[in-house]
Order: sequence, then C-alpha cells, then structure tokens
Amino acid sequence: MTKNFDIVLALPKGRILKEAMPLLARAGIEPEAGFDDEQDRRLTFATNVEGLGIIRVRSFDVATFVAFGAAHLGIAGSDVVMEFDYPENYSPLDLGIGKCRIMVAEPADIGMDDDPSRWSHVSVATKYPELTKRHFAARGVQAECIKLNGAMELAPKLGLARRIVDLVDTGKTLKDNGLIEVEHIADISSRLVVNRAGLKTRPEVMGGWIQRIREAVNGD
Ligand code: PRP
Repeated sequence: MTKNFDIVLALPKGRILKEAMPLLARAGIEPEAGFDDEQDRRLTFATNVEGLGIIRVRSFDVATFVAFGAAHLGIAGSDVVMEFDYPENYSPLDLGIGKCRIMVAEPADIGMDDDPSRWSHVSVATKYPELTKRHFAARGVQAECIKLNGAMELAPKLGLARRIVDLVDTGKTLKDNGLIEVEHIADISSRLVVNRAGLKTRPEVMGGWIQRIREAVNGD
C-alpha cells in the first residue's frame, strides 16, 4: 500500500513512461516486476530503493497527485504543468524527454489562407482550456473553449469548434484528419514536479532526489 512508502513518485502511463524508464534506471530506480506490463492492473509498485514507491496514473493527473501531497514527486509533461498551474507545485527540472509541441490546428482548406494575427475571437476544441485561454488572452484574442478528453481532431469537421489546440509529435494525427498547424503555442517536454511543502519540510530528502534525478538527466 502507498502509505508504507516514505517517498511516492507519480509516473504517467503511455508514451512518457517508455522514455522515463531509462532515465529512472540511470538514477538507480528499478520498479518491481509488472510495472511496465500494461496487463498488470496494480497502480502502486515498490522499487529496489527502500521506502520509494511508484504510482502509475494518467498523465493528466500527475500534477494533481503531487499538488495535493498524495505523491511527493512526479514526472509530467510541461503541457500538464501549464494547464493546471498549481501554486503548490515546483517544476525544477527539464527531463529532456517527451518532446513535442502544442499547436493550434484547423482544416487544411481554411488554414492555407488563414492569418492568425487577424483573429479576434476563436472557438477551440481542446484538452487544454486554461492554457488555451491564457495563450490567446495574452495576445488579445478571446477564446471560447470546448473541453474534450480526446479525438478533438473530429471537432472542426463535425462543427463542434472551428479549430483545435492539441499536442503534435510526428504530425500524423493531424494529417490523417485533414488538419494543418497554424499557430505554435509552446514546445513541450517532461518535467520533474515536486510538492513545494514537501520540499520545505524535508529539504535534505527531497533535495537529494532532485539532485539524483538531475545527475541522471545530465549523465553525471
Ligand atoms: C496525442 C495528441 C494527438 C497525437 C499527436 O495523443 O493528442 O492525438 O498524440 O501525435 P502525432 O503528431 O505523432 O500524430 P496521445 O497519443 O498522447 O493520446 P490521447 O489521445 O489519449 O491524448
């Protein structure tokens, strides 16, 4: 059970996890057997490090587990860090993994001749309503966001919203759905997320973990 662990590290399922595993190995952290088996339905795993446990959660929930102190540390995409923007969290380290970008996209036939600098109001389907509103507000554009949890590429075609804001990696998902990138919002990579209160109350332990992971990132 999670309660038995002195330190809990929250890791996201999916593509970041694959890239995070070698990094954790360099930091000397090896999860118990079954952790990388998607058929294994457990959510909590022990590691080779005494007192260190790992929880496997949805990528969108990592920052929330850390902010509420349910996990002491986490690995989250900077998209998630920006969307939730928890004042309780501190993200001291770019891990150099999970690299992609967050973009505004729209149907290719409209996007070819569109000029984002002329927009005054946009309707957007996205998993990232807060980040999207902040981005557009900063450049004086009013954004009406429809929150979806996936498949937003369908939204323009079905009249839900004219544009989408989503992660783009290879660009295949956009292309396969007749969309093109029209505005870059941010480059994304994964970050180490730490609970600020935890760092304040246990500076040696938490600082030690930050340093250990920093060395693994830098290859020291
Ligand atoms: C992300 C994103 C796009 C896709 C982009 O989804 O939401 O759908 O990846 O990648 P591409 O540019 O290489 O095609 P993800 O696979 O993470 O799953 P999700 O739909 O559950 O968010």
